[in-house]
Amino acid sequence: MDRRDIIEKIKALKKEKNAVILAHIYQRPEIYDVADFIGDSYGLSKKATETDADIIVFCGVDFMAESAYILNPEKTVLIPTRLANCPMAAMVDVDGLRKIKAKHPEAAVVSYVNTTAAVKAESDICCTSANAVKVVNSLEEDEVIFVPDSNLAHYVMRNTAKKIIPWSGWCYVHQKFSPEGILRAKEIHLDAKVLVHPECISAVVDLADEVFSTTGMVNYVRQSPDKTFIIATEIGVVERLRLEFPEKVFFQAPPGGTCLQMKKITLPLVLDSLKNEQFTVKVPEDIRVRAKKALDRMLDVA
Ligand code: 13P
Ligand code: SF4
Repeated sequence: MDRRDIIEKIKALKKEKNAVILAHIYQRPEIYDVADFIGDSYGLSKKATETDADIIVFCGVDFMAESAYILNPEKTVLIPTRLANCPMAAMVDVDGLRKIKAKHPEAAVVSYVNTTAAVKAESDICCTSANAVKVVNSLEEDEVIFVPDSNLAHYVMRNTAKKIIPWSGWCYVHQKFSPEGILRAKEIHLDAKVLVHPECISAVVDLADEVFSTTGMVNYVRQSPDKTFIIATEIGVVERLRLEFPEKVFFQAPPGGTCLQMKKITLPLVLDSLKNEQFTVKVPEDIRVRAKKALDRMLDVA
């Protein structure tokens, strides 16, 4: 079956089964062709609460599909492969979180959405890279345990008076961007604006013209009079920007980065997922209810 046939079959099945495809911006560009919505983690969580579809096929990683189910337990939530797992989300577990909570009983717990449902259930509120500062500043507590991304935690520290207690997680894709790489790119592309994701290390954030979530980058480029951009995040954003703004020029900051887990999802797997209604994403009900509170609170604040 060629690519066009697969796309047509996916579209027909979506109609027949009243299904919607939500895709993260880091997905392969061919997934965009069948997606009903493409966005960042925040936009995808929000969209999941707004759809009236019976089935959500989630083209992203595990924690994103889990969040869609947590918010919509009455819907069937599918992920096309069980191998699309975010390694950073696995860097914090409930036992570890409980230990740090016991050490800081006065602190609120903010969990980045890149966490398991069980960790969300242990948290006061969730955040995404689009709203982390706003979420932290909305809290009454002066101390905040922030899990799992230490780089995002340090970015929040720059923008809050609260005491942040960071967990030591990191994203292997964003950790690799270096200040040397950004400086080298700036020397070559003199007029370029540097856009950085807050999962990058602080020394890279220091060199940014702007710091944004993935969708934040797309929105910024849309309204910017600038023509050339150096992008420090996963390659999917660069691919998306090139498709959407062909009149502008985008360079990925060296050494570049690809999220292998995001790229596990392919068009044939999306077709199988819709056809066979696989692989179902569910969360035990007691955990789901508590995790939903943390997600709902984020959606209210943001
Ligand atoms: P965004 O929320 O910016 O889309 O980021 C999600 C993610 O996993 C970044 O690595
Ligand atoms: Fe996880 Fe990093 Fe991939 Fe985002 S880019 S899904 S944080 S491994």
